[in-house]
Amino acid sequence: MEKLKILITWWLGYIWSHTAVEFIQAWYDVIIVDNLSNSHMWVLDNIKKLVWKKIKFYENDIRNYNALEKIFIENPDIDWVIHFAAKKAVWESCQDPFLYYENNISWTINLIENMLNHNIKNIVFSSTAVVYDALKLIPPFSENDRLNTTNPYGTTKLTMEYLLKDMSTHKNFNSVILRYFNPIWAHESGLIWENPKWIPSNLVPFIYKVANQEIEKLQIRWDDYNTEDGTGVRDYIHVVDVAQAHLSAYDHIKQYIKSQEVAEEQKWLYDYFNIGTWNGKTVKEMIEIASKVTEKDIPYEVAPRRSWDVDVLIANPLKAKQVLNREPQKTVFQAMEDGRNFINKHKETLEDSPQNITK
Ligand code: WQD
Repeated sequence: MEKLKILITWWLGYIWSHTAVEFIQAWYDVIIVDNLSNSHMWVLDNIKKLVWKKIKFYENDIRNYNALEKIFIENPDIDWVIHFAAKKAVWESCQDPFLYYENNISWTINLIENMLNHNIKNIVFSSTAVVYDALKLIPPFSENDRLNTTNPYGTTKLTMEYLLKDMSTHKNFNSVILRYFNPIWAHESGLIWENPKWIPSNLVPFIYKVANQEIEKLQIRWDDYNTEDGTGVRDYIHVVDVAQAHLSAYDHIKQYIKSQEVAEEQKWLYDYFNIGTWNGKTVKEMIEIASKVTEKDIPYEVAPRRSWDVDVLIANPLKAKQVLNREPQKTVFQAMEDGRNFINKHKETLEDSPQNITK
């Protein structure tokens, strides 16, 4: 098995930790860098339990050019980067746009500059469905649909997509962008899950907190959208399906490099894929599924809409199927069942997690 070294930025976070597990289990060598600003060291211990392998970890801030460079110097065999490091709370980005521009873009520039200086040109980048012009487009969205954003988080992701496009076109990078729709739930081992240092503002964690009677009522953030029951529609996808898509993205670049070797010329690759399911669910449908799965009532009230929300976000994931040979393996119902099992297994730990609710 080949032993290409992959640097993963911020891998102790949610999707990133699930992705690292997939790579390690597929026998790749990964090196990870995380500043622990929104993750915990025990995630690393749990991953070690899961994969039974030594893992090279740097507690470093990729915002610091020299600290990042040290990793590239100490590990000259790094040949690939999977770049997740980014702030990702949409509400926070609306409250403090500068924070998002400053962090997400400068971290990426630092990384890319280091990659360039060390002649590392293969990158898989985590982007988002939020880059689509959802206020104007008719769903489901295809990769070449018009792009536009409703919030600074999305704008920084889109800017980074453009940056990578330029790096591919002018500096021969091989870049694959994955636009995630709405990842939910956790690894079936129960060893890793979304556990940031603050409570996420996303729908599914909230629904389960209400089912567990930790929160009295769910707030449905508006019920007059242009959808079947008036509540927002999203394309929810199991986080492990999202994580596995990175393996396919990596293979896509590998195959491209191979084809170029045959052609005896090195060009560049810039490609981008939706990681979603074709299926949209309204907030009320999600409540109904959760209620069925947990056999609990989930009381709710209608609250004001969030300024960045759109009616519908659904992926057309055909390109990922055709080019990456990748299709989600789990349904939303199965994901919600996994969530229930997960919570039952971790009741005590979850009760210790932070209680401050964000926007
Ligand atoms: C889903 C639906 C809300 C909370 C997410 C990520 C973002 C990006 C895209 C990857 C909406 C409604 C929510 C609540 C509610 N993903 N809702 N009550 O906004 O689609 O964005 O996906 O990059 O990072 O955050 O996800 O889970 O916040 O909302 O009614 O308490 O649930 O209005 O219709 P969203 P979400």
